[in-house]
Amino acid sequence: MLADALPLLACPHCGGHLDEADGALLCGSGHSFDIARQGYVSLLAGASKITGDSAEMIAARAEFLDAGHFDGLRAAVADASVAAGVDAPAVLEVGAGTGHYLATVLDALPDAVGVGVDVSKPAARRLARSHPRAAAIVADVWTQLPVRDGSVSHALSIFAPRNAGELHRVLRSDGELVVLTPTDRHLRELVSHLSMVRVDENKTERLGAALAGHFDRIDRVAVEYPMALSHAEARHLVGMGPSARHLGPRALADALAELPEPVTVTASVTVSRYRPRYSSTAAS
Ligand SMILES: C[S@@+](CC[C@H](N)C(=O)[O-])C[C@H]1O[C@@H](n2cnc3c(N)ncnc32)[C@H](O)[C@@H]1O
Ligand SMILES: [Zn+2]
Repeated sequence: MLADALPLLACPHCGGHLDEADGALLCGSGHSFDIARQGYVSLLAGASKITGDSAEMIAARAEFLDAGHFDGLRAAVADASVAAGVDAPAVLEVGAGTGHYLATVLDALPDAVGVGVDVSKPAARRLARSHPRAAAIVADVWTQLPVRDGSVSHALSIFAPRNAGELHRVLRSDGELVVLTPTDRHLRELVSHLSMVRVDENKTERLGAALAGHFDRIDRVAVEYPMALSHAEARHLVGMGPSARHLGPRALADALAELPEPVTVTASVTVSRYRPRYSSTAAS
C-alpha cells in the first residue's frame, strides 16, 4: 500500500515529505506525482535514459519465478532478512523487478512495510500488485533515491544494480543490506551452450570492493543446487536476462532443441548481509 510507505518516501526534487491527495503524491513545495492506474508512482527526478527491463523480459521473469525453481534463493533471502532481527521493519528493494523477493521478505516479516524501486514501468506494474504491503516506485538507482535518510531497516539488492552511497544513506543505523549475486557457476550449462552473457568471475570480489567504506559484511551464505528445467522454462530463464537482447527467438529455439529435456541447470548464488559503517566505527 502506497499510503503505508509514505513515511519512507521523499520528493525527488526537494526531498520533502509526500502526502497522497486526489490520485497523486504531493510535497509541501507543490511538486506532484500522479499515481498510475496500475498503482505505481513514478518519482523519477527527470527524464531517464535508462528504461530497465522490457515488458517481454518481465513477463518471462514472472513465468520463470512462478515455476518455483528459484525458491531456494528466495528462502535464503528471507532467512537473511529475518536474521537482522530489527523492530518496526521497513524494507526497500532496489531493482525489484516483479517484486517476487520483496513479497517473500514481507511475508517473512509480518509487521513490515515495503517499497520496491525499479526503473522499468512494466516491472512497476507487477510490483504494485506483488504484495498488499508493497509500494511500487519508478526511479533510477543511479540517481538519488526518492527515499528518506535513515528510514529503512532492510535494503535488498537481488540480481540488481546497487548504489552503495545511496543504500547507506537510506538505511537506519540498526539496518542491514542483503545482497544476492550470482557466482560464475550460475546457469553455467546454459551459458556455455547458448553463448549467454557471462557472469564476471570476480563479481563477488568487486561487489565487496564497491561496498567497502560504506558497509561491513557480517554474513555470507552460498546457495547452489541443480534445477531440472523444461525447454519452455529454459526459454523463460534466458528471456528474463540480458541475453534476450542478443539472441533472436529462432536461434534460441534451435539451440534449446539440441539439449535434453528436462535439462539440468545449476543455480549458484551468494547471499550476503552487510551492516552500514559510520565514520566513528570506520577502521582498517
Ligand atoms: C535482473 S533483474 C532483477 C529483478 C528482481 N530483483 C529479481 O531478482 O527477480 C534487474 C532489475 O533491475 C532493474 N534496473 C536496471 N537498471 C536499473 C536502474 N538504473 N534503476 C532501477 N532499476 C534498474 C531492471 O529493470 C530489472 O527489473
Ligand atoms: Zn518537492
